[in-house]
Amino acid sequence: MRFFMPADTYVEKNCVKNHKEDILKIGSRALIVTGRSSAQKNGSLQDVTEVLKEGGVPYEVFAGVEENPSVDTVGKAAETGKKFGADFVIGIGGGSAIDAAKAIALLIANPEETINCLYQPKDLQAVPVIGIPTTCGTGSEATAVSVLTRHDVEIKKSIPYKIFPVLALVDGKYLLSASQNLLINTAVDALAHSVESFLHAKANEFNRMISGYALQLWKEEIPVLKKEQELTEDMAQHMMLTATIAGMAIAQTATSLPHAMSYEMTYRKGLPHGKACGIFLAAYMREYARQNKKDVDDILGFLGMEDLDAFEKLLAELIGKPEISEEELISYAENVSKDQGKIATYPYDITKEAIFEIYRASLVTD
Ligand SMILES: [Fe+2]
Repeated sequence: MRFFMPADTYVEKNCVKNHKEDILKIGSRALIVTGRSSAQKNGSLQDVTEVLKEGGVPYEVFAGVEENPSVDTVGKAAETGKKFGADFVIGIGGGSAIDAAKAIALLIANPEETINCLYQPKDLQAVPVIGIPTTCGTGSEATAVSVLTRHDVEIKKSIPYKIFPVLALVDGKYLLSASQNLLINTAVDALAHSVESFLHAKANEFNRMISGYALQLWKEEIPVLKKEQELTEDMAQHMMLTATIAGMAIAQTATSLPHAMSYEMTYRKGLPHGKACGIFLAAYMREYARQNKKDVDDILGFLGMEDLDAFEKLLAELIGKPEISEEELISYAENVSKDQGKIATYPYDITKEAIFEIYRASLVTD
């Protein structure tokens, strides 16, 4: 049994400013990687550039990371970083920006390689990455995972490299300007991370301890997600903390079937990541409970919920159900059940029919 989480992690108000020295000692020229506009709006980019200016560290900003970042975007950003002579990368944003920052850091460290290396398991190291989340879901600041989109083969998939940020700086104030939709979609992603890690084939006492606590914290977010309470600064901090802790759980196990099932929903149907995972959670837990009811009851207990019906009702209220055809259902279920790596994340035998049933129960309104 092992616990491994090498990202030096701080969760506190004014985190970036408080850890100026920790940032400055990581490198001498920074590539900052962000989405198109949110890092400007929520103040995170300004905090980082002020610290770099004060420390005399030159930087270049690549503000072109799209949602579900493509390998091509990563390649472009890496070219910018190489031209600039960057020796570390700061990813600011949701999972897209931080995941992209990890792959960009790998390409910067290996200038002789092209983007083709990203999906080839080679012995490559990355330059250091700092992860600064601005949403309450990804957990990417606390994991080694980088999920990218390949348009050439129409898939969204993790690269095989394990790239932990060396420093994670988590400050709830960046969440205060988020829309209600973003809060819900990303918080549901953190919920999925906690649940999937708890029920994972690789689950052990360490990740279950972390997941269980993340679920207890998540319970306290429900009134904000249902808009029964305003998002206060303290609650924003709480939601970011929950996401980082849930990230620490998946750093031990990886995610499981709901994430595997989500990727095509995002790629083909344009569903935001958290929502695309969340729609499968209840049916997946129902299937799991047929083998092991206690684990599922433990999760419901952490969340303070009576049964899976209550869990399903809450998620339906928060994220709804997308429209889908029978042909799409069959094709998605076929693809997931063929992927042995994904199936192996589930601790029990699972048939193609059971996977199809999770899709059907999650997406078809009877
Ligand atoms: Fe996720």
